[in-house]
Amino acid sequence: LGELPLDQLQRPLHDLRISVTDRCNFRCSYCMPKEVFDKDYTYLPHSALLSFEEITRTARLFVERGVRKIRLTGGEPLLRKNIEILVAQLAALKTPDGQPLDLTLTTNGSLLARKARSLKDAGLQRVTVSLDGLDDAVFRRMNDVDFPVADVLAGIEAAQQAGLGPIKVNMVVKRGTNDHEIIPMARHFRGSGVVLRFIEYMDVGATNGWRMDEVLPSAQVIERLKTEWPMVALSPSSPGETAERWGYANAQGRHDPALGEVGVISSVTQAFCGDCNRARLSTEGRLYLCLFASQGYDLRPLLREQNASDEHITATLDAIWRGRKDQYSRLRSLQPPDTDSGPVKRVEMSYIGG
Ligand code: GTP
Ligand code: 5AD
Ligand code: SF4
Ligand code: SF4
Repeated sequence: LGELPLDQLQRPLHDLRISVTDRCNFRCSYCMPKEVFDKDYTYLPHSALLSFEEITRTARLFVERGVRKIRLTGGEPLLRKNIEILVAQLAALKTPDGQPLDLTLTTNGSLLARKARSLKDAGLQRVTVSLDGLDDAVFRRMNDVDFPVADVLAGIEAAQQAGLGPIKVNMVVKRGTNDHEIIPMARHFRGSGVVLRFIEYMDVGATNGWRMDEVLPSAQVIERLKTEWPMVALSPSSPGETAERWGYANAQGRHDPALGEVGVISSVTQAFCGDCNRARLSTEGRLYLCLFASQGYDLRPLLREQNASDEHITATLDAIWRGRKDQYSRLRSLQPPDTDSGPVKRVEMSYIGG
């Protein structure tokens, strides 16, 4: 094997995000709006999905080419039957120098209370839970299936008890919908060991009716937090990280680790494409090089019909990564903000994962 591939912007390959289902039991309006994902919507048939063996083989080859972090996503990954078996297969993978991978999963938390223990036993290291508010009415409206907030909080607690930490909680902030939940959410998780992250509502996909005036810039999130608590900027914990970190400070103005930290993910107002090292594998085996890509590279024929060798697949991955030029959010931010999402042929986030 040759040198690890760098893309056209000299970015290495580091993260692989694997979507294991395009289904979800929630209908968050920013992701799977009810009007589109209704009872007539056709999801992928089971035969189209990569099998656990196909996923694990692909992941193993990606690890040979530089991947150190694997995140399972969806849709809602815990809806995939026997997901623990896949977790166990991925947990057994090692880096070329024998280290385990950073293996994590993004979930809406609805099944977490039931599954935290078995996921941990299967070898999952940590989880990220999506939660858009603490107020039950606001949360039920945002998930749009009337799911109670208490069950997600119980899931987070179960994950903490099972040792699936440090746990992160992702809150997508929509101005006028849940921005009044920023302070209550921060207060709830401050000092709990959970890292709360505020995500700017993104113009991802083609169905959510995104508008710039519903984006609350992260700078304003931090301003609001500072009206309640002293906050200090923290340095990034790894290159290419999506979140900017802010710590709760003590009376001397220094970060107090016992109070913890928050993160802001500012893909609209402060794009982080410059060192984006993430690749995404869809449920049916297409490789996407950007969250905003309209096309992926179909790997499934190589894995299935063509029965390609490891060497051949690895060479294909290298060539695809070396050709990568994607930097959608950065280019987008160079244009004046618009109220619609532009020409829309983009892939849905529920299909390639968050
Ligand atoms: P850790 O911090 O290691 O847990 O992972 P992460 O930073 O990859 O976080 P996570 O997977 O929780 O991503 C959080 C959110 O950031 C996602 O749900 C997306 O909304 C957004 N996001 C993640 N990756 C990208 C990306 O490559 N581009 C853009 N524009 N947004 C992203
Ligand atoms: N904007 C920002 N984040 C989104 N997610 C889904 N859709 C959007 C969007 N339009 C992210 C959320 C959720 C994860 C599964 O996907 O972070 O937690
Ligand atoms: Fe489901 Fe997550 Fe999308 Fe909400 S954001 S609809 S929980 S996949
Ligand atoms: Fe990476 Fe594309 Fe997101 Fe930029 S917009 S950070 S290139 S996934």
